[in-house]
Amino acid sequence: MSQQQRKILVTSALPYANGPIHMGHLVEYLQTDIWVRFQKLRGHQCTYVCASDAHGTPIMLKARELGIAPEELTEKVSAEFIRDFSDFGVDFDNYYTTHSAENEAFVSQIFTTLKDAGDVYSRTIEQSYDEKEGMFLPDRFVRGTCPKCKSDDQPGDACEVCGTTNTPESLIDPVSVLSGSTPVQRESEHYFFRLGQYEQHLRQWMTDAKLDKNVVSKLDEWFDAGLHDWDISRDAPYFGFKIPGTDDKYFYVWLDAPVGYMASFKNLCDRTDGLDFDEYWKADSEAEMYHFIGKDIMYFHTLFWPAVLKGAGYRAPTSVFAHGFLTVNGQKMSKSRGTFIQARTYLDNLNPEFLRYYYAAKLGPTIEDIDLNLEDFTARVNSDLVGKLINIASRCAGFISKRFDGQLADSLPDEKLFAEFTAASEIIAQHFERREYSKAMRHIMALADQANRYIDEKKPWLMIKNEEQVAEVQLVCTQGLNMFRSLMIYLAPVIPTVAQDARSFLNETSWQWSSASTPLLAATLNKFKPLLTRVETEQVERIVEQSRESTAVAEKEQQDDIISIDDFMKVDLRIARIDNAEPVEGADKLLALSLDLGESKRQVFAGIKAAYDPQTLIGRHVVVVANLAPRKMRFGVSEGMVLASGPGGEDIYLLSPDEGAKPGMRVK
Ligand code: MSP
Ligand code: ZN
Repeated sequence: MSQQQRKILVTSALPYANGPIHMGHLVEYLQTDIWVRFQKLRGHQCTYVCASDAHGTPIMLKARELGIAPEELTEKVSAEFIRDFSDFGVDFDNYYTTHSAENEAFVSQIFTTLKDAGDVYSRTIEQSYDEKEGMFLPDRFVRGTCPKCKSDDQPGDACEVCGTTNTPESLIDPVSVLSGSTPVQRESEHYFFRLGQYEQHLRQWMTDAKLDKNVVSKLDEWFDAGLHDWDISRDAPYFGFKIPGTDDKYFYVWLDAPVGYMASFKNLCDRTDGLDFDEYWKADSEAEMYHFIGKDIMYFHTLFWPAVLKGAGYRAPTSVFAHGFLTVNGQKMSKSRGTFIQARTYLDNLNPEFLRYYYAAKLGPTIEDIDLNLEDFTARVNSDLVGKLINIASRCAGFISKRFDGQLADSLPDEKLFAEFTAASEIIAQHFERREYSKAMRHIMALADQANRYIDEKKPWLMIKNEEQVAEVQLVCTQGLNMFRSLMIYLAPVIPTVAQDARSFLNETSWQWSSASTPLLAATLNKFKPLLTRVETEQVERIVEQSRESTAVAEKEQQDDIISIDDFMKVDLRIARIDNAEPVEGADKLLALSLDLGESKRQVFAGIKAAYDPQTLIGRHVVVVANLAPRKMRFGVSEGMVLASGPGGEDIYLLSPDEGAKPGMRVK
């Protein structure tokens, strides 16, 4: 390989060890695994580590409910994770746990370094406390009536009905979900990390890391809103690591979780020759490091984590790759619809490589959500994998084995055609490298179409009947099988088991990415066995059936998805005229809009600067949410929200009424 060998450390987010792996998680683990397998096939030294995220209140309480120790719970769940991952072909170099000696050592050392540098300080705060249970309550463990919209049974962080950011203290009639008692306010000393100190560093890192543009817009929003100090401690009882120098304070799970990446890697280094921890983690490391994560945990990975690493004297991630969320049949996964599909339920019914291919065919490098449409899944897998890809081999293999003793010809009859398959190698490689898997799959399938067309034109099944053409059949089938072979090498990161079976059939012991460019000639093949069978609709239906739960939880969930007309009427949508629009100093994405709502005037900050020249907005009519709780930002208070569509950045489109609509008119 002419290219230099890269040293790459890759991680996937550490799954919470309190529930089963499901189709949503798998988007991430399969996306990462494909990338890692690709890098290894290219000859790079790529190491993939992960672990179970073992700490935190939910895990502690779940264990209590089951009457077992949290260690026992997380070990049991981790063992299931390992089986699920392995059956899906997710090939970690190390799978560890955050509840490890290595992790405790790292997090304590990082904490001490930050504290000594003055980046961590302690301060007394008031927090909701459950006197019956004898514990402080995380915000989500207090529920009550939303002070804004008066909906009852809302959690203490954000109202699920009106979206208002609440605190447990602001709820009306709050109750602890643990004991049902009314929480009291109690003081406690907490440790805080000064995130704001790292703003400049983070802004620079964000540029260096070449983050996806939607991730950058998110970060800009957070910078605009101002970076707050981060509470990194929790009071006992808590399942986690005790903070050095305290009796009853623990590290917040989100501090030791990313440190778990280091600990898992350290654990691997300690038993692997030639893998050096410092080479990968020292401040000036030349090794590459990437974190694959879901879009819901960007704040932790693009702000807290790089800042903590910087403060503690370690390297920064080379980049963070965030993906979107999975929907099934266009909707959020749901237990009542039978679309909350666990990894194990899928494995009980279908070949995991089908899902790997389907996700690859859908995945790109952005945080756009991806949809698992079950009908499309069946059709796509059958037509692409079985109909196009495997078909190339099945149409050629029989002739070679029956008529030519399993021998391939010693030359290709159409070298020009094969050269097209070789020429695609670097383009497809670049797609994989950039996580443009859907583009890679499209390119590969277009080549498969070409291979099938070649066989259709040659018609070896007719040639074989004509004595003079028999020798040519060997050539044609050698050509066909070589095209198949190249495609199988390109697909090896995606469907590793099928690729391995194909390789055994072709009687080869190992493949590299570059093997695809040298044809296999005059070789003796093994007997061909069908590599895949079609997906049957019934198998998919069975998965949905087995995933359907008609429990109270499922019914409630179904109700939660749908809002009543009353809920909708609570949103006060109004026509407003933009009286003035101007950029906000110090905010990259925001415009300050002065709005005329007929009876009142408002100021709203809108993240539309990249899409609109402020001058062109003046005089325009738009739609605003008029009864949104005011939001305090660094530059002032935003008193509403202007409706727009589109993913963000330059791709934003304001909604405007038809002519005749006047400021203050209600929209319904
Ligand atoms: N424990 C934290 C991560 C700590 S990383 C230092 C956590 N765990 S999780 O189990 O909730 O999620 C693990 C990963 O799976 C996250 O990256 C999350 O975004 C991803 N997904 C979980 N559900 C998902 C979907 N429905 N769709 C796509 N990805 C999802 O977060
Ligand atoms: Zn509310």
